[in-house]
Amino acid sequence: MSLLFQAYPLARAALFSMDPEKAHEWTLQALQRGQGCSAARLLTAHQPVLPRVVMGLPLRNPVGLAAGLDKNGACIDGLAALGFGFIEVGTVTPRPQPGNPAPRMFRLQRARCLINRMGFNNDGLDTFIANVQRSQWRSRGGVLGLNIGKNADTPIERAVDDYLLCLDGVYPHADYVAVNISSPNTNNLRSLQSHEALDTLLGALQARREALADRHGRRTPLAIKIAPDLQPEEIDSVADLVQRHGVDGIIATNTTLSREAVRGLPHEDEAGGLSGPPVHAMSLAVIHRLRERLGKDTAIIGVGGIESGRQAVEKIQAGADAVQLYTGLIYQGPALIAECVRALEATT
Ligand code: FNR
Repeated sequence: MSLLFQAYPLARAALFSMDPEKAHEWTLQALQRGQGCSAARLLTAHQPVLPRVVMGLPLRNPVGLAAGLDKNGACIDGLAALGFGFIEVGTVTPRPQPGNPAPRMFRLQRARCLINRMGFNNDGLDTFIANVQRSQWRSRGGVLGLNIGKNADTPIERAVDDYLLCLDGVYPHADYVAVNISSPNTNNLRSLQSHEALDTLLGALQARREALADRHGRRTPLAIKIAPDLQPEEIDSVADLVQRHGVDGIIATNTTLSREAVRGLPHEDEAGGLSGPPVHAMSLAVIHRLRERLGKDTAIIGVGGIESGRQAVEKIQAGADAVQLYTGLIYQGPALIAECVRALEATT
């Protein structure tokens, strides 16, 4: 294992002595500075290989980075050097926006969780696309997902307009497009998961995707990202609409509004989405239900609370085709990526 990965427990002690958002920014800046630097490449691991095809895309391994860590797509090559099989960046909105007031990210260290209410802070679509174009990950054969959302000040009745603007912009630069309708930190965003609203949104996205496929000569897969807090019949409704509209995949899941698993811990009462271990069982239940309803043709990307190789295996056994990490990386460090790949390799 590389030096950098072995040193993570030390780095984590330093990072955890900082405010969570400052630590996040510092890490991203370090990754950005290291991008393209050969010394940094030597310090990081070579990419673990376990080839898989998901949504028609050839992944070098099925362990990806979840959206939200690199909202502006500014560190794609630095993150790629950590060994991910695919990388998802965003959520991007059409116009830049500051997000919610700080503090807006909290560590619940005893439970290895985070609560965040960032609120899609990002530099907007134009900067996002320029960053993506500068990165070399795709030209080196890496798979890149671009995750899109709506601005906070766009009324929910006009949400479709924002998603279409983003789809138009990111389409030629993405290997897949992830449609985020499950952040708890943008007012009413999760209402887009209801049957009628989702039917309208997916109908519009699918029609635009066909036009874009003609224009660019390439059909880019679409996936939607859903919440772990959906009721079983809501999950069925999402699955049925995804099939009806020919959406290629579902990313299950985003953060949860539930606080059951962290009652009594400091920051438990902060507003926002909870991530980390408690989301694992919730997302597993969603994946199980989706897989039963969908049959085998629609891809599922399993995300939520993975902090060991065993949990990555559980996601796949529940019906996922690939997995993504976020909070586990913060607590366990980048060695978690190779641990998950090895555990998945051992079960195949
Ligand atoms: C997120 N997540 C997220 N998801 C998304 O689709 N768009 C986003 O902008 C963000 N932003 C974001 C910020 C922060 C600070 C966190 C912790 C999470 C959700 C993330 O991608 C993932 O779905 C959940 O965190 C659950 O996985 P983990 O973190 O438990 O592995």
